Amino acid sequence: MQRPAPANLPPLAPAALEHSAAAAAHLRAAIAANGGWLPFDHWMAEALYAPGLGYYAAGNVKLADVDDGAKTPAGDFVTAPQLTPLFARTLAHQAAEVLRQTGTQTVLEFGAGTGALAEGVLLELDALGLQDTRYLILEVSADLRARQADRLKAFGDRVQWLDALPHAFAGCVLANEVLDAMPVSLFAWSPEGAVLERGVTVDAGGAFVWEDRPAPDALATAVAARMPPLPGYVSEINLQGEAWIAAMGSWLERGAALLVDYGFPRNEYYHPQRAGGTLMCHLRHHAHGDPFTAPGLQDITAHVDFTAMAEAALAAGMQVLGYTSQARFLMNAGLMDLLARLDPSDAQAYAQAVAPVQKLLSEAEMGELFKVLAIGRGMQEPLSGFSRGDRLGKL
Ligand SMILES: C[S@@+](CC[C@H](N)C(=O)[O-])C[C@H]1O[C@@H](n2cnc3c(N)ncnc32)[C@H](O)[C@@H]1O
Repeated sequence: MQRPAPANLPPLAPAALEHSAAAAAHLRAAIAANGGWLPFDHWMAEALYAPGLGYYAAGNVKLADVDDGAKTPAGDFVTAPQLTPLFARTLAHQAAEVLRQTGTQTVLEFGAGTGALAEGVLLELDALGLQDTRYLILEVSADLRARQADRLKAFGDRVQWLDALPHAFAGCVLANEVLDAMPVSLFAWSPEGAVLERGVTVDAGGAFVWEDRPAPDALATAVAARMPPLPGYVSEINLQGEAWIAAMGSWLERGAALLVDYGFPRNEYYHPQRAGGTLMCHLRHHAHGDPFTAPGLQDITAHVDFTAMAEAALAAGMQVLGYTSQARFLMNAGLMDLLARLDPSDAQAYAQAVAPVQKLLSEAEMGELFKVLAIGRGMQEPLSGFSRGDRLGKL
């Protein structure tokens, strides 16, 4: 954390800088309204989601589309569904299994980004004979919701958007890179072994600066339950993500949720050597660790503590159905069969289709850092995505 912003950022356009200045002014006002100090999770929530100003709530490009042949795609980062439709199509096979097992016909996707995952899943469900499946999306960004509606209009009213969590739901839940976009609390262990909460304040020149204060009891207890005191150690904790899973325990009546994200089990997450945490920012395809760079223009994320998410699911009365690497999950769920359907006679097109698959599977890229956690209720049979290489025992 707090690795400096990259020196080689491309210049930001005047309109972008103006937007960032407005977002920064909003953040300074939020700090002032809270008595001069804002816990980081509140600051991050405003930086990402403040209406009209936050990174996800304003009209910037954000997620890049990579199929336009450009060397450096637009936006700030690329996710698996945008790299290749084969990601969505493979996930559709796992979703189909959940729907068939539970006798349900609805998929609910959280944070659908550009709609690429929804599109690929729906097309593959059609190919699997599940044309009656409805697709619900819950998206907190109005701007992305408009992008999704445009991309998915060919599916008509099979796709619908929810404005709030459902009261009850049966079917398959999908969330790719959603937990990592939820605001996290930052904590630091003091030299005396107390838990401090890291927040944001403003210096005399108007710049954002860190300030640690004694953590409220709930945060201190949650941190102490996860790791021993380690003076100087700074990390983060996704209590909002855990609350989101706990809420799922009240509305998921039957079915499974497939949660894909980058992260680790707890013992790796809070490893003594990961002393600066995992907070990362993405701006124009540069990854760095300074959340105070260009507020409103960059994504801010943290890796996921999958042990915490699995514990939240169990505490909410749900099952933990599987946990494995993205590479293992995709191979188990049929990615290789889908790849075998491609026509190798056009060598160039074939190479173009295969290259992003390597990125999804490679240990050095997304294959190992990204994981899939499946949780659910009323599931009787094991899911094929976890048939080999399940790592539940590591959580
Ligand atoms: C990193 S993007 C990933 C987008 C997409 N799933 C993909 O893989 O391309 C995070 C997405 O999650 C959404 N999001 C964050 N918190 C959410 C929440 N609590 N409920 C629904 N969507 C959320 C954001 O608006 C954004 O669309």
